[in-house]
Amino acid sequence: MTMRSLLSDNSRYIESFHVFLKNSTEHQCMLEFIQKTLPGIISSIGDGKSPLNVLSIGGGSGEIDLQILKQIRATYPAAAIHNEVIEPNGEQIRCYQEHVAKTSGLENITFTWHQETSLEYESRMKSSKEMKKLNFIHMIQMLYYVKDVPATIGFFHSLLEPGAKILIMILSGNSGWARLWKKYGPRLRLNALCLFILAPYIEEILNEAGLKYQSYELPSHMDITDCFTEGNKNGELLLDFLTETCNFSKTAPLDLKAEIVEDLKKPEYSEMRGGRYFFNNTLTAIVIQS
Ligand SMILES: C[S@@+](CC[C@H](N)C(=O)[O-])C[C@H]1O[C@@H](n2cnc3c(N)ncnc32)[C@H](O)[C@@H]1O
Repeated sequence: MTMRSLLSDNSRYIESFHVFLKNSTEHQCMLEFIQKTLPGIISSIGDGKSPLNVLSIGGGSGEIDLQILKQIRATYPAAAIHNEVIEPNGEQIRCYQEHVAKTSGLENITFTWHQETSLEYESRMKSSKEMKKLNFIHMIQMLYYVKDVPATIGFFHSLLEPGAKILIMILSGNSGWARLWKKYGPRLRLNALCLFILAPYIEEILNEAGLKYQSYELPSHMDITDCFTEGNKNGELLLDFLTETCNFSKTAPLDLKAEIVEDLKKPEYSEMRGGRYFFNNTLTAIVIQS
């Protein structure tokens, strides 16, 4: 078996993403930000406007999206909200629709799902010439998967209404991921499907484009202890997620696997507490103004 990108196998990607979510505080740190900081950020996006148009890019199965919508709902109780979702993975869209059906408090919010990539959406919008203006756009943990990040940010920024904002969440330059990708990126970059990019790269793009933004660090960790037990199913799925490689444990050259597994225990990558290893999964939230 040869090494291939985790993104080439949809089901394995989703399975390893779920184990990652279960073992990490990824969604918890996002929820804390959404509850404590987002209300201030959205306080000026929709003064007197109805409907408010929200666009989720790479919304996955919608758990985080629904929490964002609840905050927008609470800030603008009288406004109708339309939430559009761009998500290329059909399985994720089905889960998202099930979440919407089961969630209360979404009254007066309508949903449209587009099973496509952000680039496909952009091309469709440009050819239809009906450029819809938006009040809030978010790209949460998804910019790794677009081909041209500056162009993508530029296009979606051009869709903002005055006062509107874009929220990007992406791995921080201080995370264990930053060290992992710097050291092993060249040996793990299996195709062009996944870019190993971090918050400082996005900030550089925004500085060059002269866009105004504010960044927030969201500390987070992932319990990777299972990665150190040979044959542990959870550990194997976490290693797949960490290396963006399908079946990393069974397909990686032995020396590469040994090196990565050894490094992951080091303090530059993980903190050891109570006999367990917590990988540094710190995120950065970047809020761009219209
Ligand atoms: C790591 S998940 C994040 C999901 C969700 N935002 C969250 O934080 O829970 C990345 C999502 O981006 C989607 N995605 C991948 N490539 C994309 C693209 N080119 N355009 C839009 N979404 C994409 C994937 O299908 C996946 O659902």
